[in-house]
Amino acid sequence: MESEVKPFYGVQLPRHIAIIMDGNGRWAKNRFLPRTAGHHAGVSSVRKVIEYCGSVGVKALTLFAFSSENWRRPQQEVSVLMGLFLATLEKETAKLHKNNMRLRVIGDRTAFGFELQEKIASAEHLTFDNTGLNVVIAANYGGRWEITDAVRRLASQVVDGTINPEEITTEVFASNLNLADLPEPDLFIRTGGEKRISNFLLWQLAYTELYFTDTLWPDFDETELEEAIKDYSGRQRRFGYTGEQVEKFFIHNDGLR
Ligand code: IPE
Ligand code: IPE
Ligand code: MG
Repeated sequence: MESEVKPFYGVQLPRHIAIIMDGNGRWAKNRFLPRTAGHHAGVSSVRKVIEYCGSVGVKALTLFAFSSENWRRPQQEVSVLMGLFLATLEKETAKLHKNNMRLRVIGDRTAFGFELQEKIASAEHLTFDNTGLNVVIAANYGGRWEITDAVRRLASQVVDGTINPEEITTEVFASNLNLADLPEPDLFIRTGGEKRISNFLLWQLAYTELYFTDTLWPDFDETELEEAIKDYSGRQRRFGYTGEQVEKFFIHNDGLR
């Protein structure tokens, strides 16, 4: 696993940041607007965090855009969210590419309309070789779905005889999940005040530092993100070791995996 961490204003920079972008509906409600106005406003925060992460040298940014449970919302809201996803992809892909960023989408995309599936595939294809920030959009994503999907694939390999059950170690299992090529998230941020994971990256968040803010997603910006990174950089990650072991053998938060 890559362990290079760039110093940034004297703080430890997370390699991978994962964000639950929550609070769009309440942001709109506070302004007597329809919930969907909050989703539209949230797009500018997405743009800001992508630009910021790209400029400071974060390696990966994973954004939770639509959960596998969000289909339960009113049909009109779901269709606005799908339309917004499509429009944003159309508008922003060229810029991501120009900035050497790689885009990928995790989640069960087979539930999306044909046009959206096509746009996702072409954006992923276009940016595949880019070496800058990895921008990951979790859409129709659920942590339980991802784990179940990996189990299903491994089970069929056992049936095929290509793998023995004893060979299924933690590492082998993890290599069957999304984002296996990226470091696990160092920092998790949830905006909107709720303190829960809501079926986001269940496996990958095992040792991630959690940060919650009451700020609603459309109000989240570079200053807020910087605040979260500063908070993260002051923490001692122990990964099961004692604090004394960490102080003695490791510099900062890195090198423990
Ligand atoms: C997050 O904002 C966006 C999505 C879940 C798609 P919400 O729409 O959940 O906003 P609140 O939580 O109702 O305020
Ligand atoms: C989580 O937010 C999903 C996204 C931000 C896309 P929700 O608003 O759906 O989560 P719950 O329902 O409050 O747990
Ligand atoms: Mg919400």
